[in-house]
Amino acid sequence: MSLSLVDADTDAPGGERRVVVITAAGAGIGRETALRFAAQGAALVLNDVDEVALRAVADDIKTLGADVVTWAGDIGDPAVPGQLVGAAVDAFGRIDVLHNNAGFARNSLVADLTDHDWYAQQRVVLDAVVFGTRAALPHIIASGGGCIVNTASISGLAGRSGMSAYSACKAAVIRFTEVTALENARHGVRCVAVAPGAVRTAVLDRYLASIGSTAEEFAGNILGRLTEPGEVADVVVWLASDQAAAITGVTIPVNQTANRS
Ligand SMILES: NC(=O)c1ccc[n+]([C@@H]2O[C@H](COP(=O)([O-])OP(=O)(O)OC[C@H]3O[C@@H](n4cnc5c(N)ncnc54)[C@H](O)[C@@H]3O)[C@@H](O)[C@H]2O)c1
Repeated sequence: MSLSLVDADTDAPGGERRVVVITAAGAGIGRETALRFAAQGAALVLNDVDEVALRAVADDIKTLGADVVTWAGDIGDPAVPGQLVGAAVDAFGRIDVLHNNAGFARNSLVADLTDHDWYAQQRVVLDAVVFGTRAALPHIIASGGGCIVNTASISGLAGRSGMSAYSACKAAVIRFTEVTALENARHGVRCVAVAPGAVRTAVLDRYLASIGSTAEEFAGNILGRLTEPGEVADVVVWLASDQAAAITGVTIPVNQTANRS
C-alpha cells in the first residue's frame, strides 16, 4: 500500500498531517528539507548535534505555523536514533517520513586512515542510517506506510581519492536503501536515496578555502557549479511525496559529477 494519492503532499493516509523525522536538520540539506516539509503543513521532529542551530531552525519552523519537536544529540551515538524515533512517537503518535541525512567526510589517504577516523565516519554516515531505519520502520508501517529517504553521495556511487571511509559508507547506504525497499514494499514503505554532488555549505566553503580551490573548479560536474542545499531538499521532498509513489529502492544523483564534452 502506498500513501493516499488524494492527500498528496501534506497529509498521511486518513487525512492526518504527516510526521517527518530529519537528522542533521540544523544546517544545509537537512535544514532546507525541514523548512519545505513545514511549509507543506507537516509536523517535524528534528535532530542535530548543534543545539543552537537546531533551536534556530525550530524557531523558523514555528514561524511557518508548523509543529516541531527537537532532539539534540550526536546521531552517531547508537542510542540516539532510537531516542529520536521515540520522541517522534511520543509527540505525534506516528511517523510517515524519515530522512536519514547526517554525514560528514574526513579526508585522508587509505594508507593514513586511522581507526578513529574510520569508526567516526562509519557511526554517523552508515550506522545512524541502519539504526534509525530499524527503529522507525515499525512505526511507519503502523502509520499505514510511508517513505525513508537517505542522503547518500556521489562519493558512494564512485570512489573518490582521499575519501575511502566516506565513500565506502555511502556506498553501503545505497545498498542498504535497496534492501530496505525490497523487504518493506509489501508494508507500504518506500526507501530511496539522493546522491548529491558537491553542495554549497559552510563546511565546503571552509574546505575550498583551505585547499585554495574555487567552487567551479571543485564541482567538476556537467552543470559546472555547486549544488544549492535547497535543490537537494526539493528532490527529497518530492521523493517522499505521492508523486513519487512508483519510485523505490533507487538512488537519485543530484548534480552528477561526470564532466563530458
Ligand atoms: N555538502 C556536500 O557537498 C555533500 C555532498 C554529498 C552528500 N552530502 C551529504 O549530505 C548530508 C548533509 O550534509 P550537508 O552538507 O547538508 O551538511 P552540513 O555539513 O551543512 O551539516 C548539516 C548539519 O549536520 C549536523 N551534524 C553533523 N554531525 C552530526 C551528528 N553526528 N549528529 C547530528 N547532527 C550532525 C551539523 O551540526 C549541521 O547542523 C550528509 O550526509 C553529507 O554527507 C553532502
